[in-house]
Amino acid sequence: MKIVVVGAGAIGSLFGGLLTKNNEVVLLGRKTHVEQIKKHGLRITGKTDTVVHPEAVSNVDEVNEKPDLLMITVKSYDTKEAAEDARQVIGEETVVLSLQNGLDNISKIASVLGKDRVVAGTTTEASLFLEPGKIEHTGKGVTVIGELDGSITERVKHIIKSFNDVGFNTIVTNDIMKELWKKAIINACINPLTAIFDVKNGQILKHEMLHEIMKKVCHEGVKVAKSIGIKIEEDEMVEKTVTVIKDTAENYSSMVQSLRKKRRTEIDSINGYLVKMGRKHGVNTPVNELLIKMVKIREEMIR
Ligand SMILES: NC(=O)c1ccc[n+]([C@@H]2O[C@H](COP(=O)([O-])OP(=O)(O)OC[C@H]3O[C@@H](n4cnc5c(N)ncnc54)[C@H](OP(=O)(O)O)[C@@H]3O)[C@@H](O)[C@H]2O)c1
Repeated sequence: MKIVVVGAGAIGSLFGGLLTKNNEVVLLGRKTHVEQIKKHGLRITGKTDTVVHPEAVSNVDEVNEKPDLLMITVKSYDTKEAAEDARQVIGEETVVLSLQNGLDNISKIASVLGKDRVVAGTTTEASLFLEPGKIEHTGKGVTVIGELDGSITERVKHIIKSFNDVGFNTIVTNDIMKELWKKAIINACINPLTAIFDVKNGQILKHEMLHEIMKKVCHEGVKVAKSIGIKIEEDEMVEKTVTVIKDTAENYSSMVQSLRKKRRTEIDSINGYLVKMGRKHGVNTPVNELLIKMVKIREEMIR
């Protein structure tokens, strides 16, 4: 396949990098990262240890061929701009896949590039951007991909095969929106609390009050999901969130990492989207609203 990755940061470089094994990959990323990849290749350490040599460009005008697959892997607040950039790259047959966290990426991409070409995905692969030209594959996970209408199409099967062929454990789903909501609720529970207190994920279970707040965030998230027809069970979500916290107890969430780097967080696309949908469908979300305010205060404080 010909693949273009828009947003060659941590996760985009991991997928794009390893997909070079069987595919023609172009990474579209920031200049310093691109320069290092051009000079030395992309160095991947951690769960995978390799150097790969994808084509790398820092300007969308340098992408010459229409890809079969275009992956969008920017942070959710950059999605609209990334989709605008992608507009000039895609051909009639190009499929666009998002592997991002957050609940508003698909609608943003579809509004710019058209819903029919969009396929959604979510991944628990984990990657860290170490420095330009170098990333660390910090955790192996599962990638789930599905059509927005739930059908199991040839194009989705093809993407899944290509991902599995290079070592990403990838499966199809007939309910990708439910998968995105489940991931978003887990993120909504873990990310803001760890970001506000600047702690590792495991601390949430060590403090009774944080554990209680986490359960309340989960309760609100499940109620909002149900209000828009996504059937998620609260007990199951709390249990899943606790499992993720235990499995990642020693990790700092992406929101902690963003604040430490003095960067914006994805709060608007995670808890923010829950609140927005709650308002629209008559579900109160006071705990999420408070957490958003506190994360925004932290964002302001670090500027
Ligand atoms: N990292 C993980 O382990 C992981 C796992 C699962 C899901 N995710 C999700 O995947 C998404 C990306 O996360 P990430 O950790 O990979 O973020 P990241 O390291 O910040 O990567 C995004 C990269 O895209 C660049 N970028 C932004 N707009 C661009 C554009 N228009 N054209 C080209 N490059 C552009 C960014 O540059 P600047 O830094 O200059 O803005 C950054 O280098 C997020 O939604 C995240 O929640 C991440």
